[in-house]
Amino acid sequence: MSHEPILTFENIVKKFGAFRALDNVGAELKAGEILGLVGPNGSGKTTLINVLSGLYYPDAGQVHFRGSDIARWPMHKRAQIGINRTFQIPKPFKSLSVEENVALSYHYGRKPAMTPHEVLDFVGLNLVANQLALQLNSAQQKLLDLARALASGPQILFIDELAAGLNHHELQRVADHLLTLAQKGIALIVVEHHLGFVNQLTDRVVVMNAGKEIFQGSLEQAAQDPVVSAVYLGTGS
Ligand SMILES: Nc1ncnc2c1ncn2[C@@H]1O[C@H](COP(=O)(O)OP(=O)(O)OP(=O)(O)O)[C@@H](O)[C@H]1O
Ligand SMILES: [Mg+2]
Repeated sequence: MSHEPILTFENIVKKFGAFRALDNVGAELKAGEILGLVGPNGSGKTTLINVLSGLYYPDAGQVHFRGSDIARWPMHKRAQIGINRTFQIPKPFKSLSVEENVALSYHYGRKPAMTPHEVLDFVGLNLVANQLALQLNSAQQKLLDLARALASGPQILFIDELAAGLNHHELQRVADHLLTLAQKGIALIVVEHHLGFVNQLTDRVVVMNAGKEIFQGSLEQAAQDPVVSAVYLGTGS
């Protein structure tokens, strides 16, 4: 496995009007690595995923995938080269079946990927493959969103708060899934409030606050960092 980063982003700025939702954010990711992205509500985590996945273009900064600058590539083109994401609030095609939702993504993604059947098996939705997406409960909708992203054959996967609302058992299964994906060589950025969940997956984190990166390093070091502690205890800027 190459030790070169598969994804490098630097000096990312994203503004909404005069407001800087992202202010000079950067990091790198190697194949098979999991990077945790943590920080309080509104700190810019989802916006960063939106920029890296191509939903938004940055106002400044670079995004390099295997050396190519993809900062202004549209989302579908990134999916074709193996960059995909899950959504904080999944929005499946509700009137399509679970299997059809996954098949659509497979059709437009990078080949070879796991087949829709293999993906549904992997996330444990095979028994509801023929149900309409609107019939799923919220945990199943999250797994369907993961399945949809996986069916596109990602090399890089951005996971936005997959753990929120899952019970202990579901959480454990999702953590196992993500670790298996990393072992297969997929690079992951995992946005999460649940630090115990992050700790199970990785000890490498970027901590954000108010659009800025305030820490990069191990979760253990982050817990001892005065700036990070101030933010989490609500006494920060
Ligand atoms: N499309 C948008 N238009 C205007 N402001 C936005 C937009 N998207 C995000 N923001 C603002 O940017 C900031 C960062 O939001 P973002 O959703 O990235 O935070 P987050 O870290 O994902 O928070 P959470 O943990 O609550 O999901 C917030 O102040 C938010 O209101
Ligand atoms: Mg968010």
